[in-house]
Amino acid sequence: MEKRISVAIDGPSGAGKSTLARKVAAELDFLYVDTGAIYRTVALYCYRAGIDRSDGEAIAARLPEIHPELFYGEDGLQHMLLNGEDVTEEIRQPELSLYTSAVSAIPAVRAFLLDLQRDLAKKHSVVMDGRDIGTVVLPQAEVKMFLTAAPEARAERRWKELREKGSAVPYEEVLADVILRDENDKNRPIAPLRQAEDAVLVDTTNYDLEESLQLLLNAIRERM
Ligand code: DC
Repeated sequence: MEKRISVAIDGPSGAGKSTLARKVAAELDFLYVDTGAIYRTVALYCYRAGIDRSDGEAIAARLPEIHPELFYGEDGLQHMLLNGEDVTEEIRQPELSLYTSAVSAIPAVRAFLLDLQRDLAKKHSVVMDGRDIGTVVLPQAEVKMFLTAAPEARAERRWKELREKGSAVPYEEVLADVILRDENDKNRPIAPLRQAEDAVLVDTTNYDLEESLQLLLNAIRERM
């Protein structure tokens, strides 16, 4: 059987992980897996059900009803299904970000999604992006990168993205959201956001997309 290779890309929100990981995957002809989208899909179910995001017990009790699935469209993009419904667009609503951050801190939720993520890496060579891919999900990954940037740079990128989509949310609000989410993701007791010891650190604060992509590809090729 052909050997599967895993590239794990972790880091805080807004570091450019998903855009860069998608491009890296296309370049290497690997499957791109956005694990944040899987967490968002589980969170969407709970959000729609009106469950308080801090009610870990209520959320854990609903997990057997939740069936998140990935599929890849003709466009090659990852789509998310929630119990058969395509929620790819809906999971991007900004209100869901902090809610997902809270849901993703619940141990039962993390355990629930572990096999789904690992199975993908068993079946395909992957570029998987998330928070704990190099540390917990795929500790054996051949290549691990930790992608980061200053909070202000990450907030500015997200703010521009939102503005392009027609949102008038102020920059200060986006920055506060980025900082709060970093705190939540870093300080949770289970699978906190942290750099794996054997991960390469790439800071994209002062690089544009193309420069960051070349940095990543060089680091990956060195290790593969
Ligand atoms: O990458 P994102 O912003 O779409 O992720 C949404 C939330 O999901 C984020 O606040 C942290 C959480 N998450 C996680 O805990 N573990 C992952 N592997 C991916 C995302």
